[in-house]
Amino acid sequence: MSHVPESRHAVTIPTLLQMAREGRPIVMTTAYDAPTARIADAAEVDVILVGDSVGNVCLGFENTLPVSMAMMLHHLEAVVRIRPRALLLADMPYLSYHLGMEDSIRNAGAFLQRGAQGVKLEGGARRIPVIRALVEAEIPVMGHLGLTPQSLHAMGGYKVQGRTEGGALAILEDAQRLQDSGCFALLLEGIPAELARRVTETVEIPTIGIGAGPGCSGQVLVFHDVLGLIPGPPPKFVRAYLDGFGALRDALASWAGEVRSGAFPAAPESYLLPKAVQKAVQDWRPGGES
Ligand code: KIV
Repeated sequence: MSHVPESRHAVTIPTLLQMAREGRPIVMTTAYDAPTARIADAAEVDVILVGDSVGNVCLGFENTLPVSMAMMLHHLEAVVRIRPRALLLADMPYLSYHLGMEDSIRNAGAFLQRGAQGVKLEGGARRIPVIRALVEAEIPVMGHLGLTPQSLHAMGGYKVQGRTEGGALAILEDAQRLQDSGCFALLLEGIPAELARRVTETVEIPTIGIGAGPGCSGQVLVFHDVLGLIPGPPPKFVRAYLDGFGALRDALASWAGEVRSGAFPAAPESYLLPKAVQKAVQDWRPGGES
């Protein structure tokens, strides 16, 4: 019998590599707190990402740039507490891996020390030194190529990447170089489907697509997008499986209506006194003798 405690996670990085080898699609979503992580885990997704999308999805920012390490750790810790079976990854927020190797290792290491099994960071060839340093420090890294939201201003907005010959070839090159630097997987965001398929064919590590067509080893969507929790028309690459915003709004409005009509709370939602105490409570008068 082994004395090595088994991982509480049913899905590990070797599991993902095995799934990709066997052509079994990898399912990844985001979670930012205990309830969303519990739902994602109960749905048996393979990977939960505590994404820096927490900035726009939960914290009301316009983009992910204001998200800090402190915010990420706060949300990661909430997800860790539900002890997910899924592989748990944390996104390195803007400026947490741009200021030098030591700082980057300390930040990525902080995620691992709190229970993440790996980190994700954005960017191509220029990230190679930091990826190598993290891998050297035993920190598994998922790369992120294509539309990288932290480069929002450099890209001139959230625009599909890799549509020109130069752009497409640069992504193919970057994918090779990130693999060679030690990334265990690549997230491909906002690139043409044919390009994502070609990246997937030419690397040995799994690719996870978002807005990158069906030819990847797996797919990721933001939790709130899959469940239709964000009002308004979703982006082209999203398919919502529930009008979550409408369903939750209607349920809450039903409760509000019943509070206003007096229908809530009723006996089943109330605590009742024992008969003997009922009489004493009823007979009591303010300022009266007890
Ligand atoms: O932060 C995030 O939600 C992401 C998505 C691309 C999954 O990185």
